[in-house]
Amino acid sequence: MAQISDEILNRTHTCGQLRQSDLDMDVRLCGWVRSYRDHGGVVFVDLRDRDGITQVVFDLPQKGGVGGEAMYKLARSLRNEWVISAAGTVRHRGEDRINPKIATGQIEVVAHDLTVLNKSDTVPFEPDEYSQVSEDTRLRYRYIDLRRPEMTRAIRLRHQITRTMRRVLDEENFIEIETPFLTKSTPEGARDFLVPSRMQQTSFYALPQSPQLFKQILMVGGLDKYYQIVRCFRDEDLRADRQPEFTQLDMEMSFATEADVMNITNKVMSAVCELTDKPFPRQVPVMTYQEVIDKYGTDRPDIRFELFLHDVGDIVAGSEFKVFADALGGGGIIKALCPTGGGKLTRKEIDGCIDYARQHGAAGLAWCKVEKTRLAGGVAKFLTDQMQAELRRRLGADDGDIILFSADKPAAVDRVLAALRVKLGRDMNLFDKDAFAWCWVTEFPLVAWNADSQGWDSLHHPFTMPAVDDIEQLHKAPGDMKARAYDLVCNGQEMGGGSIRIHLPEVQRQVFGLLGIGPAEAQEKFGFLLDALRFGAPPHGGIALGLDRIVMELIGASSLRDVIAFPKTQRGTCPLTGAPAEVDGDQLAELDLRIIASPETSSQANQRT
Ligand code: AMO
Repeated sequence: MAQISDEILNRTHTCGQLRQSDLDMDVRLCGWVRSYRDHGGVVFVDLRDRDGITQVVFDLPQKGGVGGEAMYKLARSLRNEWVISAAGTVRHRGEDRINPKIATGQIEVVAHDLTVLNKSDTVPFEPDEYSQVSEDTRLRYRYIDLRRPEMTRAIRLRHQITRTMRRVLDEENFIEIETPFLTKSTPEGARDFLVPSRMQQTSFYALPQSPQLFKQILMVGGLDKYYQIVRCFRDEDLRADRQPEFTQLDMEMSFATEADVMNITNKVMSAVCELTDKPFPRQVPVMTYQEVIDKYGTDRPDIRFELFLHDVGDIVAGSEFKVFADALGGGGIIKALCPTGGGKLTRKEIDGCIDYARQHGAAGLAWCKVEKTRLAGGVAKFLTDQMQAELRRRLGADDGDIILFSADKPAAVDRVLAALRVKLGRDMNLFDKDAFAWCWVTEFPLVAWNADSQGWDSLHHPFTMPAVDDIEQLHKAPGDMKARAYDLVCNGQEMGGGSIRIHLPEVQRQVFGLLGIGPAEAQEKFGFLLDALRFGAPPHGGIALGLDRIVMELIGASSLRDVIAFPKTQRGTCPLTGAPAEVDGDQLAELDLRIIASPETSSQANQRT
């Protein structure tokens, strides 16, 4: 192939820039052939780059073309996704041929020069027809998928968001500091990805689930205000809002209170939201954990709509309905939901709700209908007149509304009704789908009881400061103990979480003890942190925001995969590179590792191939 001259690569504009004000200008564009139309004597090419599309016209000399016969012939040979450079003059398309759908729709470039920079095989899918292929195919040929305007927009917004975060934090005197990827495990509730060490055989590094311990140690190191836009690695079950490697805006501040961390986070998010048409509220509502659990059944409330859960155990206590009596007798609760204002639920829709509740682990869902002055159908016959009147009053129920009840252990009731509430909100159009509702959730419990392991687990992580003056209280009623933790939530998604940390070694030891991490284990796993706390650790606190989730929410994508250039599939694979993959025997030998495939795993592997 002939050498490409500098002039041919010297673009004057991108494919999204030219307007009517540029008429008669001599320009050169480079890009991909998105489509071509041969009208016998005139070839129209839609030329695409990351900025947009411009129509380029190649005319035969007889039709007034100035590029010569050879150029026209070359233009006729163009195919989709070939890469070309074209020079020409900007002209108006003519009133009847304006394309209002694209920014350059009023003009076209009449070419006098064309160079093919590279050909393309027939692509497995046209970027415009991405929705007709499987996501696996899109990820395998990600470079084609990335040519779609929606992908380009997401990746560009992501860049603008990180640039904004850096700007705000720089103005606030934060320093960006990198922390190691080859490290020791930090517990964030997931499994670690392990990396075997060649030099220290039989030992493994863990990829960080977050830089939690390093950022705390940076505070002990006197660095005062730290941030990092950092990759975190968690081997956990994947969902649309979870990737095995994802990015956090991670922050930590010395001598800080909850309010300091929340204020700086609000500042960052206000600036970030200015990039979109969804302003961040001036006053973000702050609710306690107990309040949101009571009203929404979850610590990630979607507050776009005011459909609340109501505890009605006190009203229906004494009802002859066995499920209610059994729940209350067995330490359970009864909560009700009464969606109003979005039309009335039909019998079929009620059955749909019951099925949905079952999918979320409920044995069933009780219901009844509000009819003018009384309740009817379902469980109504078990409710006395007084119960009925009280229920209608507490739930604000109107004629024709349906009341849905869940009776079970508190966590089960909340899980089921929280999910059902969001489903009803969506199905009954109870909220504006374009709205954004941010809130802070505070005063989390420090620990939660784990019935499987019969022990206490941290709700955030073990380095969170308990909200107590007297550490002796810690062991008296751990379940009632609050943590100095806070989460930022938007539209029912956890966007970030953080806390004031334990900076006193004794408190850290006590909290480890409560979590069943004895002195020897604490020393082995976190000795470096306990050591650091002994040498002048300042009071400190911080937060981490999920960058991928923020981009996803702000752009209205339904999966994190739409806002990450090279994401993993739901199975944790990368169809582009084929990762994870087997490695050479030599590589294993160097690491002194051998694969001992169990019959079960090797038969699974065979099925996959
Ligand atoms: P946490 O574990 O809450 O806190 O994580 C902070 C935020 O990261 C995002 N996130 C994820 N995003 C995509 N995929 C995942 N698998 C995933 N897991 C979490 C969420 C979440 O709110 N060290 C603490 C922070 C601190 O205390 O400062 C931490 O990592 O948006």
